[in-house]
Amino acid sequence: MPTDRTDPEPLTPYQYPNPPEALPEIVIPNAIPTDERLWVPQAENVWFRPLCLNASQGYWMNLLRVRKSGVLSRHRHPQAVHGFVLKGRWKYLEHDWWAEEGGYVFEPPGETHTLYVPEDVQEMITYFQVNGVMYYTDPYGKGMGYEDVFTKIDMCRKHFEEVGLGSDYVKQFIR
Ligand SMILES: [Fe+2]
Repeated sequence: MPTDRTDPEPLTPYQYPNPPEALPEIVIPNAIPTDERLWVPQAENVWFRPLCLNASQGYWMNLLRVRKSGVLSRHRHPQAVHGFVLKGRWKYLEHDWWAEEGGYVFEPPGETHTLYVPEDVQEMITYFQVNGVMYYTDPYGKGMGYEDVFTKIDMCRKHFEEVGLGSDYVKQFIR
């Protein structure tokens, strides 16, 4: 039986507090920042901007920015990734299709791929949810390191300290 959703007070806010164990929300007005210090360098021509570093569930939401020709090293995903292209375009060396501005990408668990931004794209920005780990490999699948939400937090902490925002600046993004 479908639930009866007839609401006699559609504009009355919920009248009770949220559960005391619920974590605080994150609200970021300028998710694509104008303050360059919020972009954390990751590799040559590659940066990420943290939005939610979810330590309690082991995932992270971030903007990935690549300028000029750049590569996000070959990696395997044991868990799904969701991406939404905000600017520019990119492809995986392992696939024929292009991810273009306005497009959505689902990366299934088990994928190993290399993200490539061509020379003619001045700037690429994509919103990614990455779950679990990025497991970096050589072309034959041999492990070459990993990233998870905890290494991301650590990178942010060090970068924010270096640029004068202070290492605690990262705390607002952690849940
Ligand atoms: Fe990926």
